[in-house]
Amino acid sequence: MLESDIEKLHTTELGALRIKKNLALETDDVVEWCKRKICGADEIIRQGKNWYAYNGDVVITVNALSKTIITAHVRKELRSKPGIRYIDGNEELLDRIAPLWAELNAIHHAKSVHFKAHYAGFTFEARKNTLLKAAEKGCLRVLLAYDNELPVGYCVASVIDGLGEVDSLFVSETYRKKGIASSLMERALDWIDTNGAVKIALKVSVGNEAVLGFYARYGFLPRLIELQRVSDT
Ligand SMILES: CC(C)(COP(=O)(O)OP(=O)(O)OC[C@H]1O[C@@H](n2cnc3c(N)ncnc32)[C@H](O)[C@@H]1OP(=O)(O)O)[C@@H](O)C(=O)NCCC(=O)NCCS
Repeated sequence: MLESDIEKLHTTELGALRIKKNLALETDDVVEWCKRKICGADEIIRQGKNWYAYNGDVVITVNALSKTIITAHVRKELRSKPGIRYIDGNEELLDRIAPLWAELNAIHHAKSVHFKAHYAGFTFEARKNTLLKAAEKGCLRVLLAYDNELPVGYCVASVIDGLGEVDSLFVSETYRKKGIASSLMERALDWIDTNGAVKIALKVSVGNEAVLGFYARYGFLPRLIELQRVSDT
């Protein structure tokens, strides 16, 4: 039982930051806060390698073996925006993102300064193949947001050898500023955390710096500038 191991519970620096951000906690003693919530939990269930403690609108995930508090967040069913339904799955869902990915590629094409030719010739098949290779090397998650039967946003995430990556994120223009990307990001980051990532990174195309403010909300800040040789010069 999780309650009998309460004194052994701990978390990582990254875990504490994630939990504080997910729940907008003011306390710095995230472990103590989680212990209190676990002790007063409405329900604690074991699923696979993790315990899940449900207390009100919060769920806390604890690795049963190491007793590490992996993450805590507002319950998915409560944070989903009305009218939008979320579907999470593996690489078999990739084809569903094709039309949205094409819109993202068009944005990159329009905004790119030096690599317009790359985006002009980039195809969904090529992108899908890269993502399938990532799935073979590690694991891949596809998260989709639907308005009825219409896919309106997606996020693809992967974990390979402890490196988590948010590979791609897009929300249809008319559905923006409704919290859909936030829901997708939170779900993707929870999934990355529970799949053993020790580091999380993502890439932003040059020209698309407008998105940096969004990612900064999740603690992603620019670290390196990757240069690539333009192949046709
Ligand atoms: C970036 C993007 C995914 C955000 O989607 P969204 O569903 O509108 O985002 P949300 O509604 O969840 O926004 C959450 C918060 O981030 C803020 N935000 C959204 N885009 C932002 C930006 N570019 N800069 C700063 N803050 C931003 C929102 O205002 C909102 O703040 P609030 O909670 O205080 O209201 C969307 O604009 C998009 O698809 N852009 C084009 C594709 C793209 O650039 N993808 C990233 C490729 S690397």
